[in-house]
Amino acid sequence: MATRTTPALNRLTPAVGAVIDGVQLGDDLDSETLGFVQKALLDHGVVFLRNQQASVESLWGFLENFGTPWKEDSFGSDDDGPEDVADFDFLPTRHGTAIWHSDSSFLAEPPKITLLRALSLPEIGGDTCWASMTAAYDALYAPLRAMLDDLTAVHSIDVPMGRMGEYGDVFRANFEERHASQQVHPVVAVHPETGRKALYVTESCTNRIVGLSPHEGRHLLAMLFEHIKSPDFNLRWRWSENDIALWDNRSVQHYAVPDYDSPRVVQRIIVAGERPKGPGG
Ligand code: OGA
Ligand code: MN
Repeated sequence: MATRTTPALNRLTPAVGAVIDGVQLGDDLDSETLGFVQKALLDHGVVFLRNQQASVESLWGFLENFGTPWKEDSFGSDDDGPEDVADFDFLPTRHGTAIWHSDSSFLAEPPKITLLRALSLPEIGGDTCWASMTAAYDALYAPLRAMLDDLTAVHSIDVPMGRMGEYGDVFRANFEERHASQQVHPVVAVHPETGRKALYVTESCTNRIVGLSPHEGRHLLAMLFEHIKSPDFNLRWRWSENDIALWDNRSVQHYAVPDYDSPRVVQRIIVAGERPKGPGG
């Protein structure tokens, strides 16, 4: 039977993020509530829902409304199911995600959506930040936006793997069985559903702009990486157990603060995405 709810939405900042109250995520949402969550995600880039108790199977069913759920982005089989989702402790790998990124932008088809549910948290620390890449793009000087619209950049898994120390080598070996180690993506990606433009270069993975000399590319990227970190475009979320964050990797980037040294256990499911397209198609 469909679940009847009265959803409420509270924005966190003008640029990014909203809290949704009055919704229990699961595979039995009525179409109106589902549409509410889908619209909120498109409008605000990341949405938060507190006290979410649904089973992994049921969250998986919920995500099927957005596309094809996967256990994770890079290392899984081609037929993941909810039974493959294992509780994941970020403690050993926390430095790999402590850099602004959009999930797995080094893939040809990066995941479009990520869902994270906090299961067990450090007493303090382990917040996550999200930043709107549409707001960051819109804030740039118009001639600079026009220039960026025509550029492409190289995203490489080598950069994040290098940050993960001994874990990086294990991940890289598994990854290389399935994927090329780098991809070229547009510097500005057009969101396939909203049509809005967003910056799509990340400090985590983007190491070169195609066609620019190394020093031109390095300095342009450094400027963009500094730009997107502005508090004007971002929020910081202090997690509670059973919080769910659902975000759109096509319009936001995120940064996980590594300021903790006890387990931080989550469930994580992603939704398969398409190859990003630039303004020129
Ligand atoms: C991720 C990630 C954020 C966090 O799951 O993709 O970057 O809060 N994690 O740990
Ligand atoms: Mn991430």
